Amino acid sequence: MNLAVETFDLNRTFKLKKAKNKGENGNNNGKLIALENANIKIHQGELFGLLGPNGAGKTTLIKILATLLLPTSGTGLVDGIDVVKYPEKVRKKINMVSGGEHCGYGILTVRETLWMFSQFYGIATKVAHRRIDELLKILKMEEFAKTKIGKLSTGLRQKLNFMRGFVCDPKIMFLDEPTLGLDVQIARDVRIYIRTWMKENPERTVLLTTHYMAEADELCDRVAIIDKGRVLVCDSPQNLKKSLAGEAVFYIEIPLSVNGMEKFGQIPGVKQFAYEHKSHLGRTELKFILEEESAISNVTESLSGNGSKIISLSKMEPSLEDVFVALVGRGLKNEN
Ligand SMILES: Nc1ncnc2c1ncn2[C@@H]1O[C@H](COP(=O)(O)OP(=O)(O)OP(=O)(O)O)[C@@H](O)[C@H]1O
Ligand SMILES: [Mg+2]
Repeated sequence: MNLAVETFDLNRTFKLKKAKNKGENGNNNGKLIALENANIKIHQGELFGLLGPNGAGKTTLIKILATLLLPTSGTGLVDGIDVVKYPEKVRKKINMVSGGEHCGYGILTVRETLWMFSQFYGIATKVAHRRIDELLKILKMEEFAKTKIGKLSTGLRQKLNFMRGFVCDPKIMFLDEPTLGLDVQIARDVRIYIRTWMKENPERTVLLTTHYMAEADELCDRVAIIDKGRVLVCDSPQNLKKSLAGEAVFYIEIPLSVNGMEKFGQIPGVKQFAYEHKSHLGRTELKFILEEESAISNVTESLSGNGSKIISLSKMEPSLEDVFVALVGRGLKNEN
């Protein structure tokens, strides 16, 4: 099977300023390791997700593959082409969209902006107009075609930015948090578009990062979970969830409490533990991944020994987020 992306021991370090010597990732002699021996293979036609906490190295990896950043060492191939040796060739095959980024000039309309970007890529007039019409229709932006982009809401500007990426019809698309800050409906439109675009041509490939686990679960054929610059696992969401099947996941709500949370992770039978304070609800949500279900009695005993009243307790089927917590040791909205 053809590979759309292949990396061999890709590394990227950044020099740290003296005062900033304690970064999130491992640091060595004033260097921050943003990516460490990353080896991934993405097949042509795959929708591949990159998951990881803030600072894990996702954007760094995408930027290297999109020829925007040089690796410190290692090799990255996109559609079989070396990203360091032949960046111009790679750029003809790819495009990249980042959540939260702005594109274009406020005085141009949505249609004019898309047209301008199509011309940067030398797309023939007829093809460009057809593609712009399609994008406007599928992404439900027809009514805004003549609106100046300076007048669009943040979410609609983000949608336009997303459309800008697809106007040149890349073979391989890099989407760095494409649904960041979008409302439920717009995020849904964007996901539908990604899926439709992939289905239309089996040669198309998408590498996307997201902090929304449900989105990765719904969209991605395979995901890689990375933390501190290292790829921890790479498999389909189904297989990753199956890997937790022997374990039990429990959600427990207790009244808001901030003291002594760390010790819950040491209760016998607890494999992983994460928590989130919901101050507005006056509650703390605890999540326990247990080696086996019976260990829940140790948990409830410890909680009552700690004086914590249990508001609710429920057992959950493992989700992709549970896999994430089990591997990374903290939730995406981690507080520990
Ligand atoms: N230009 C830079 N100079 C110094 N350090 C950098 C630079 N770019 C990234 N880093 C560091 O490299 C690490 C990885 O950053 P990266 O942006 O790849 O993370 P990420 O996984 O995309 O995180 P997020 O989920 O917050 O977007 C972080 O510790 C970050 O601070
Ligand atoms: Mg990022």
